[in-house]
Amino acid sequence: MGINCKNTAPVGVFDSGVGGLTVAREIMRQLPEENIVYFGDTARVPYGSKSKNNIIRFSRQIIRFLKNKNVKAVVIACNTASALALEAVQKEFDIPIIGVIVPGARAAVRETRNGKIGVAGTEGTIRSETYNKVIKSLREDAVVIGQPCPLFVPLVEEGFAKHRITKEVIDIYLSDMRNTDIDTLILGCTHYPLLRSGVMEYFGDAVHIVNPAYETAIDLKNVLEENGLVNSSGQSAVYEFYVSDTAEKFTEFANQILPYDVAATKQINIEEY
Ligand code: DGL
Repeated sequence: MGINCKNTAPVGVFDSGVGGLTVAREIMRQLPEENIVYFGDTARVPYGSKSKNNIIRFSRQIIRFLKNKNVKAVVIACNTASALALEAVQKEFDIPIIGVIVPGARAAVRETRNGKIGVAGTEGTIRSETYNKVIKSLREDAVVIGQPCPLFVPLVEEGFAKHRITKEVIDIYLSDMRNTDIDTLILGCTHYPLLRSGVMEYFGDAVHIVNPAYETAIDLKNVLEENGLVNSSGQSAVYEFYVSDTAEKFTEFANQILPYDVAATKQINIEEY
């Protein structure tokens, strides 16, 4: 029996910019045979400060673009879009679409001992209380403390992850949380895993740091299996990268993050979709 071309179709992965590459990296590690089409909305980043209506509109356009690339499933590798748009787009499109919040919440609930969980994210993600709701649906007595950290995104994008300024910003945003007795902290924005070592150092061993990317790749694997969409062609995966602006800057960044040589990124006009 030949391999169904639906199975060899790529998985679409999107984010507001480069942050979702931390999720793509995990999919590449765990599902090395899956082809990926990545889209970073670099013209409209940040999503964290935008309204729900706009995030739904952006997500809809991106999924239309990805469907044009023939994707068999979509991973919303952006916490803000997962928080504000996942439900809406899941109803509108006929392919499996998953986000990063349910996997991140599940991992945190599994890790916590005392049920006290911190969430660092964008304003949009924290304001939506989506992490809160999902965590409480999994563990009723959980206490969730959210903290928006908007400056983390530009610091990462400017390559300041290890800079002393970033240490100060970590302290400004997270000192209240460090004074609580949380034992688990979700890095609830795809850029934040790139600050992981600084955050780990700041909290010390008593706090378990959760990067939802790992669990998201597991969810993707399960969804592909359930829908009979696993690529078992045995061929090495092909990765394509698209952005809505500044393709060269994206390529440079991607080459720092991915265990894969990104030759070029194509710029498209996402407003056409
Ligand atoms: N990638 C986005 C997220 O995970 C954060 C960056 C932004 O504000 O666009 O929420």
